Amino acid sequence: MWKDLDISVVRCDSEKRKDKPDQKNLGFGKFFTDHMFLMKWDRENGWHNAEICPYQNFSMDPAAMVYHYGQAIFEGLKAYKGENDQIYMFRPEDNLERMNSSALRMCMPRIPVDKVLKGIKALVYLDRDWIPSGDGATLYLRPTMVAVEPALGVRPSSQYYFFVIMSPVGAYYAEGFNPTKIWVTDKYVRAVKGGVGHVKTAGNYAASIMAAEEAHRAGYTQVLWLDACERKYIEEVGTSNIFFKIGEDLITPPLNGSILGGITRDSVIQLARSWGVNVIEKQITIDEVLAAIEDGSLKEAFGSGTAAVIAPIGELCYQEKKHVVADGKTGELSQRLFDELQAIQNGRQDDPFKWIVRV
Ligand code: COI
Repeated sequence: MWKDLDISVVRCDSEKRKDKPDQKNLGFGKFFTDHMFLMKWDRENGWHNAEICPYQNFSMDPAAMVYHYGQAIFEGLKAYKGENDQIYMFRPEDNLERMNSSALRMCMPRIPVDKVLKGIKALVYLDRDWIPSGDGATLYLRPTMVAVEPALGVRPSSQYYFFVIMSPVGAYYAEGFNPTKIWVTDKYVRAVKGGVGHVKTAGNYAASIMAAEEAHRAGYTQVLWLDACERKYIEEVGTSNIFFKIGEDLITPPLNGSILGGITRDSVIQLARSWGVNVIEKQITIDEVLAAIEDGSLKEAFGSGTAAVIAPIGELCYQEKKHVVADGKTGELSQRLFDELQAIQNGRQDDPFKWIVRV
C-alpha cells in the first residue's frame, strides 16, 4: 500500500558539500555523494515521507530487526555521463522490479516503481556533478530496504526504511578489465533451491565472505560457487553471473532457484543472441568446464554483473589445481560485449533493446 507519494527535496548546505574524489582513484564504494533518497513504510501509512535529503546517518533503535535477523534487500545500478553531459541510466526499472521480487521473498513491502524511479532520477540529476566521465568510471546507485521496527520476535517487521545512496566508482576489481583469477570452492556453498539465493538479500553476501577471504588469501579475485547438493554444477561467481564460450556456444547456468538473475546477465544473453551467438542456458559441471579447458574447446570465460560489467576469467583453481583459461587472455567475445555494453550505457551507440533511460 502507498498513498500518493510526493517527494520533498532538502538540499545540502553549500558549505557542507563534500570535495569530489580524484577520478583516477575511485575504487569501489568508498565515496558517497551529497544527497540520498529516503522513504519510510509502516502498516498504517504505507510508504510515506519520501524525500531527497542531505546524505546523513540514521538513528536506529538497537533492537531494529535488521540488526538481528538481517531482513535487508538491496540493488545495484549505474548512471553514466555521455556526450554533451547527457546522463543515462541502464535498465533502472528492471532493478526496481527485481527489488520487488526480493521484497516478496523476504516478506517486505513492495516499492512503487514509478515513484521511486522519479525520485532516483531527481537524485541523480541533483548530484550530477558527481558522475565521473571516461574510462569506465560511473555513478553506482545502491537502493536498499531494511527492517527498522524495534522488536526481537522473528517475524516480518512492521516498519521499513527504503533509501538510495550513490557512489562514484571505478572498476570493481583491482584487475580492471584484465582477466581475473577465480577460486572454485567445494567446501562452502552459497544457496540452495527453496532458499534465498535467487534474491538480492544481504545475508547471501554475508555468508559468502569467509570463502572470499580464503580465495583472497590464496591470491584469487573471487569465488566460483557450485550447487549446494551435489557440489558439481556451476552456479555463479561472488558478485556476478558466469558464462563460458565452449566451441561456438555461449553457455550460462539456468536460473533454477538458487542463482541471482543478473540484469547484465540478461543483457549479455540478448546482445549475444542478436549477433547470432548460440546462447544456451544449461547446467554445466565443473568437470565439464575443466575438460573443455583441457581439450582446448573452452575459448573464453567471463563474469557479468552491474559492478563487474564483463570480467574476463584468466584462471580457475579447483581442488588446489590451477587451470589457465584461454591463455589467460581476454577473449574476443568478452571484449566485444564489454565494448558494446559500455557504448550503449554511455549513449554512444544505438539502443535497440530500449535499455537506456535519459535523466
Ligand atoms: C552489483 O553488481 O551491483 C552487485 O550487487 C555486486 C555487489 C555486491 C558488489
